[in-house]
Amino acid sequence: MSDVLTTEKLDGHVALLTVNRPDKMNALNGEVRCAITGALDELKEDDDVRVVVLTGAGDKAFVAGADIGEFRDARPVEQYRSMQAGDIYSRVEEFPKPVIAMINGYCLGGGCELAMACDIRVAAESARLGQPEINLGIIPGGGGTQRLPRLVGEGQAMRMVLTGEQISAERAGEIGLVDQVTEDERLREESMELARTIGDKSPVALQAAKESILASRRMPLDQGLKFERGWFSLLFSTDDKEEGVSAFLEKREAEFEGR
Ligand code: COA
Repeated sequence: MSDVLTTEKLDGHVALLTVNRPDKMNALNGEVRCAITGALDELKEDDDVRVVVLTGAGDKAFVAGADIGEFRDARPVEQYRSMQAGDIYSRVEEFPKPVIAMINGYCLGGGCELAMACDIRVAAESARLGQPEINLGIIPGGGGTQRLPRLVGEGQAMRMVLTGEQISAERAGEIGLVDQVTEDERLREESMELARTIGDKSPVALQAAKESILASRRMPLDQGLKFERGWFSLLFSTDDKEEGVSAFLEKREAEFEGR
């Protein structure tokens, strides 16, 4: 257990990861990045956990970016190595279980990039999102120039990255940067409801679905369709497929075991 990141296991096969540096707007320093990769390694092996929700402590920030304090006097080679070693964005994206970003305030820079690496983004209506790196004389380094245009299109991505402006949760919803906007006081409830809905499903099918959808980014349609068909057929080897089909035919709820 780390001070800068808490892990809670909740009902419904859900794990909640909370970045815990509220006095620094939950900015991502090396310690937080290391704690996130460590927690993901553990949760990957935990069969009881089928879905992860990621959020920030307090009511001000999800994550307000990389810890700017670490940038001062940093040299290029050290910077490159630390970004490579602490590439939490790819680790989240490649995590074999769905990850939901529960965005409870400032979601800026590396915070916005972390949210974009998640599979679904739910934001409180007061949340603010942006890629302000340009104001520091740098650019996004956690995938912002790559994942943002894929989510919102090139023009909107250019606008956000070139101006560094923050946008509201409502606007983020309109352009497809977040998938659900809730009243502030309902953020946790609605995020957990979504997580539990996903946690009820077969974990093998969840992994197949996540991998197949992510494959659509890098594969031409014909290859993507083959990739999907491969996973679809593979799932016919699972007990969960038998359980899901039988439950439907017997008009009862399925109980997926993850086998
Ligand atoms: N890195 C390091 N510290 C950060 C931080 C970051 N990305 N974001 C906020 N903090 C710290 C502030 O330095 C301040 O620390 P202090 O109390 O020791 O001075 C504390 O968090 C509170 O932030 P503050 O700026 O006082 O709050 P605010 O409500 O006035 O503004 C923000 C909130 C998020 C708009 C503002 O902090 C901000 O612009 N942060 C940087 C965002 C950014 O550029 N992210 C991309 C980094 S590459």
